[in-house]
Amino acid sequence: MTQSKNEAIKFAYWVPNVSGGLVVSNIEQRTDWSYDYNVRLAQAAEKSGFEYALTQIRFTAGYNAENQHESVSFSHGILAKTEKLKVIAAILPGPWKPALAAKQLATIDHLTNGRIAINVVSGWFRGEFDAIGEEWPEHDQRYARSEEFITALKGVWTQDHYSFDGKFYQFKDYTLSPKPVQKPHIEIFQGGSSRAARDMASRVSDWYFTNGNTPAELKKQIDDIREKAKANNHEVKVGVNAFVIARDTEEEAKRVLQEIIDGANVEAVKAFGDATREAGASTSEGEGNWAKSTFEDLVQYNDGFRTNLIGTPQQIAERIVELKSVGVDLVLSGFLHFIEEVEYFGEKVLPLVRELEAAQANQITAKSA
Ligand SMILES: Cc1cc2nc3c(=O)[nH]c(=O)nc-3n(C[C@H](O)[C@H](O)[C@H](O)COP(=O)(O)O)c2cc1C
Repeated sequence: MTQSKNEAIKFAYWVPNVSGGLVVSNIEQRTDWSYDYNVRLAQAAEKSGFEYALTQIRFTAGYNAENQHESVSFSHGILAKTEKLKVIAAILPGPWKPALAAKQLATIDHLTNGRIAINVVSGWFRGEFDAIGEEWPEHDQRYARSEEFITALKGVWTQDHYSFDGKFYQFKDYTLSPKPVQKPHIEIFQGGSSRAARDMASRVSDWYFTNGNTPAELKKQIDDIREKAKANNHEVKVGVNAFVIARDTEEEAKRVLQEIIDGANVEAVKAFGDATREAGASTSEGEGNWAKSTFEDLVQYNDGFRTNLIGTPQQIAERIVELKSVGVDLVLSGFLHFIEEVEYFGEKVLPLVRELEAAQANQITAKSA
């Protein structure tokens, strides 16, 4: 079941607002977590045809990320230096309360003419929560809390005199003013693939982000979510993570992948693998992110190699169109050397994707004529 077959597939990139790049490997990465680098990257990305950028939230170091800039302020910093790009700020319920998040994001929405979005993440790293003195509810309770968080945000952003009596959050006759610029409200993404994550997406989120995977596995997830969303009279779009290695030849692309894996920081990857047991991988249904990840998959911490956007521009464009055919609306991409590879992607891969999409649309029109 696909949702928006005729809409052009969208592209987002991971903002390297934490140090260490997007692969846990000692290979050289010409990617930098500084503000200056990120401004140049965002400007190159919007010029290259990327519509979204996604920041990450981490409170502590882990798997090579010694330094981590905060996501909301960093998103605003990028928005201030760009013109079209939408930046999705990662937010963790727990450290963030919905009243503060709603107010903070509404203000940024005004400052940037409606270009902020949020990614509600439910947490996978207990050590981080312990370190900052936050409670660590068990897995499905974290999702119950995130769902209330999203419900409250939407209420505050769209209604005056808003009241809500949840298990985790309460509002009494609250009116936020000004409301956000975006209508009906600021776009809400979520990350996670467990049953609880999917059920939440099918009820309240505008977008469901999932880890990298094969088209067949993604189709199962997407059909499941869309069927449930339909029953809830809700629509949800889907973004999938992919680590892109686009090179002039397939051999070169594969060689780079092998170099990344050969240079893996084994200790950090293993520690990360242990920490993910706190996520949906360990829930009874075993469907969450990382449920089937191998050591090699975990070298890119959101299973980005599994999507297999590794090869020539033509191979990658064809695989992207295949992702679209199973219902994917957006590709969330990561790169080894961000600025130069984002530019290569915009120049070599994106035009081929648009050509293939146009050819498909023509076929559909010819068939129906
Ligand atoms: C695209 C994407 C982005 C994410 N970004 C973050 C993040 O910035 N910070 C964080 O703590 N977790 C992040 N997560 C992790 C999720 O919130 C969640 O804990 C994890 O995917 C496990 O989910 P599951 O238990 O439903 O499988 C992200 C997940 C995805 C798929």
